[in-house]
Amino acid sequence: MSAREVVLGVGGGIAAYKACDLLRRLQDAGFGVTVVPTPSSLHFVGKATWEALSGRPVTTTVWERVDEVRHVHLASVSNFNIVAPATADLIARIAQGRADDLLTNTLLASTVPTLIVPAMHPAMWASSATQSNVSLLRSRGYIVMEPDRGRLTGKDVGVGRFPETARILEAFKEITERANDLSGVKILITAGGTREMIDPIRFIGNKSSGRQGYALAKAAMKRGAEVTLILANSSLPDLEGVTTIRVDSADEMYAQVSSRFLSCDLIAMSAAVADAKPAKFSESKIKKGALSAIELLPNKDIIATVAKEKKHQIVIAFAAETSLDISEAERKMMVKSADILYLNDVSGSEIFGSEQTQGVILTSDISGSIHHQKIDRTSKDTLSDLLLDQALSKLG
Ligand code: CTP
Repeated sequence: MSAREVVLGVGGGIAAYKACDLLRRLQDAGFGVTVVPTPSSLHFVGKATWEALSGRPVTTTVWERVDEVRHVHLASVSNFNIVAPATADLIARIAQGRADDLLTNTLLASTVPTLIVPAMHPAMWASSATQSNVSLLRSRGYIVMEPDRGRLTGKDVGVGRFPETARILEAFKEITERANDLSGVKILITAGGTREMIDPIRFIGNKSSGRQGYALAKAAMKRGAEVTLILANSSLPDLEGVTTIRVDSADEMYAQVSSRFLSCDLIAMSAAVADAKPAKFSESKIKKGALSAIELLPNKDIIATVAKEKKHQIVIAFAAETSLDISEAERKMMVKSADILYLNDVSGSEIFGSEQTQGVILTSDISGSIHHQKIDRTSKDTLSDLLLDQALSKLG
């Protein structure tokens, strides 16, 4: 199998016949394509056509070639998925996380970029159910194309037509280019919340779950970067393809970051670092009668300290605030020598531990002016790609 493997999922819509041309053009572009039709799509285009065109076996359920565990195998060898055409039902099933045929099983087991190409009657496309399923998929990082406007199967005209092959290939090209655009780039990411021990039982900590930095590490790794993740007190598992170093305190995190900073190209400091630590660690548990005030010592500002030494490094800092105070964010950018800062609105209790985020991306240009991009509620995965896009443009 080449490094350009595609799973082409075909849904049960009349546009299935147009996916034959898409398959051919993908092969022309050098992709190896395995077609996974839904059982109902075989009413429109039969298995024999797909096998002849792809030159590969074609199955539709998990009950064929069971010994191969095909959904897991396909999910692990595929570099990209395209679902074309995606019917309203198929979109709903993917959004729900259903796994009732080979295609939905494969997509559920897959972590690679997925392009969804809808085609259906305009009223079905416009329905609130489909639209909310599409938003949900987009929020999870799927790329869902807008269908074309034009004549449908019957006499109806509207938005719902399967896009021209050229437009699908263009959207796909963008995805494949992005897939390796960070190849050779060394990225250091911090995530989670540090803990400053008071005694063997108690600590000063914070609510960070580590999800934003984790999403960044995953996105950067998928785009070909060499990623080191310094993870503080997070229950999230190690990511395959990412070097994960686990730490507890701000001092430990500082040691890990400072020893690696000058050999990285980009640092994303998403960890919530405790600003202070107890002046004295008590080796034995402090009895409640003796617990009163805790004397604190300030911790090093990790990013501000290492970024002072920066050469070509691009610095992404984060600021979690309960109000979107832009001038405070701009001040932090200066203090931390950050090129990019994500001002995270954590008002309410919804952001910590959630897969969603909202806030503002601040970027500074060569002249020193600062630009703002408002981020409405979106997934931490999507935000990660936006931040990496910004960083990439600065890396040149
Ligand atoms: N940060 C750091 N070292 C610290 C504190 C924060 O490297 N000791 C980093 C964070 O990881 C983040 C950025 O600095 O990328 C901003 O963190 P934030 O907590 O918002 O800012 P503080 O400098 O701690 O300011 P304040 O708590 O007063 O808002």
